[in-house]
Amino acid sequence: MTGTMKAVVLTRFGGSEAFEEQDVPVPQVGARQVRVRVHATAINPLDVQVRRGDYSDVPLPTITGHDVSGVVEELGTAVSEFSVGDEVYYTPRIFGGPGSYAEQHVTDVELVGRKPSNLTHLEAASLTLVGGTVWESFVTRAHLTVGETVLIHGGAGGVGTIAIQVAKAIGARVITTARKKNHAFVHALGADHAIDYTTADYAPEVKALTGGRGVDVVFDTVGGDTLTRSPLALAPLGRVVSLVDIAQPQNLLEAWEVNAAYHFVFTRQNRGKLDALTDLVERGLVRPVIGAVFPLAGIAQAHDLLQAGSTPGLRGKIAIDVSGSASGSASGPAGAVQQRAEVREVVSLRVRPGSGPAFEAAFDRVQTHLTDADGYRRHHLAPALHEDGSYLLEVQWRDLAAHVQGFELSPAHESFMRELTPHLAEPPSVLHVPA
Ligand SMILES: NC(=O)c1ccc[n+]([C@@H]2O[C@H](COP(=O)([O-])OP(=O)(O)OC[C@H]3O[C@@H](n4cnc5c(N)ncnc54)[C@H](OP(=O)(O)O)[C@@H]3O)[C@@H](O)[C@H]2O)c1
Repeated sequence: MTGTMKAVVLTRFGGSEAFEEQDVPVPQVGARQVRVRVHATAINPLDVQVRRGDYSDVPLPTITGHDVSGVVEELGTAVSEFSVGDEVYYTPRIFGGPGSYAEQHVTDVELVGRKPSNLTHLEAASLTLVGGTVWESFVTRAHLTVGETVLIHGGAGGVGTIAIQVAKAIGARVITTARKKNHAFVHALGADHAIDYTTADYAPEVKALTGGRGVDVVFDTVGGDTLTRSPLALAPLGRVVSLVDIAQPQNLLEAWEVNAAYHFVFTRQNRGKLDALTDLVERGLVRPVIGAVFPLAGIAQAHDLLQAGSTPGLRGKIAIDVSGSASGSASGPAGAVQQRAEVREVVSLRVRPGSGPAFEAAFDRVQTHLTDADGYRRHHLAPALHEDGSYLLEVQWRDLAAHVQGFELSPAHESFMRELTPHLAEPPSVLHVPA
C-alpha cells in the first residue's frame, strides 16, 4: 500500500498546541504485521507525558497514541490469524514505533485482539490500554481473588472505571476513592464503598470498613503519597500494585509492618489480555465508560480536558472518533458525555466445593419462579478464576428496575438467595454494571 493518511504529529515537546495535523505516508506492512484502518483511539496520561517530554528520548517528530479500534485492511505475508475486514482492537507497542493518532496503523499481529462484538469502536478503543493494565495488575500480578477486598484509588478515572468492574467480575469487594460528586457513579459501576479523597484520610476509613484488618490489595493509580501510605490500609501480607512512576524517592518503610508485597506495573502488550477482556465484555461484566468524544482534529482539546480531570465533569475515558463514524454520534465535550445511568445487576455465587449437585438442584427449583420476562439468565465464569474445586456462577437480572429498588434485593431475589445460601462458600456478591 502506498499513499498518505492524516495523522496528528508531535513536532516538538510542549503543551497541547505542539500537535500538528499532517498528511504522512501510510506505513508499510511487515511479514507478521497487519495494517488497520483506525476507527477510534483514546487519550491516556501516557500520551500527555510523551507530549510534554517526560520521555525525552522519544525521537521527534512522532505520532503518539496507545489505543486502536479498527478494521484490518492488509495482512503481512505470514499472517493467518486474521482476515481483511476483521474488527480488531489493541494497544500499539509502547515506544515501539508510530502510535494511534492516525487514520491507519501497522502493528505486530501478536498484539492484536478481536474487538468485542457488543462494543462500538469508540468503546473498544477506550478499553485496550487501561483494560490491559488492569488485567495485568489484578490477574497476572496481584492474583486478586474471589472474596478478597481491594482498594482502588481514583475509581472515576480511565483506569479506575475498568478496575472496579474487573475486580467485581473476579468476585472481590471494592473500596474506591473518588470525589464526593462521583460517588453515585462509582457505585453504579459496582464499587461497594466510596471514600472522598479530597475530604477524608482513606487509611483509617479503609480500616474501619474492614473491621481493622485492611484490604488484601491496594491498586495505586495516583503515586507519591498514595503509594507510600498504602500500607496503612493494607492487611498483613497484602499486595500493592502501583502504576505510577514518579522520579522522586519514595519511602516505603510502612510496608515492612505488614509484610507487604509490591508490584510495579508498566503495562505490556499482548493478545492474551485482550482476549480475556473481550470475554468479560461480551458476557456483560465489563463496559468501557466514555466521558467525552472528539474528532482526530480535536486531539489538543482532548489533552486539555484530560489534564483538567473531573473538575469540569470528566469521568472515564476520552475517545477520539478518527473515522468520523466510530459511533452513531460523535461530538465535542459539551454534548459528548455518555455516562451510563442505567445499571444491570450481576449476583456472583461461589459454591462450596462438592456442593455442586445440591446447588444445581436448588437452583433449578428456584429458577422455575423466574421467567424470561424477569430478564433473568445464568452462566458460569471461566474455570481459571477459581482453582480450589469450587465454581463461580453468575445470575444476571437485566430488568433491574423490576427487581431492585435502590439497590436493595427485591422479595424475588430474597427467596432465591434463601434457597441457595446453604450451598454457598461465602455470602453472595452483588454488583451493578452499566447497561
Ligand atoms: N504503568 C502503567 O502501565 C499505566 C497504565 C495506565 C495508566 N497509568 C497511570 O495511571 C494513572 C491513572 O491513569 P488514568 O488513565 O486512570 O488517568 P485519569 O483518567 O486522569 O484518572 C485519574 C483519576 O485519579 C483521580 N485522582 C487524582 N488524584 C487523586 C488522589 N489523590 N486520590 C484518589 N484519586 C485521585 C482523578 O480524580 P479527579 O479528576 O476528580 O481529581 C481521576 O479520576 C496515570 O498516572 C497514568 O499515567 C499507568
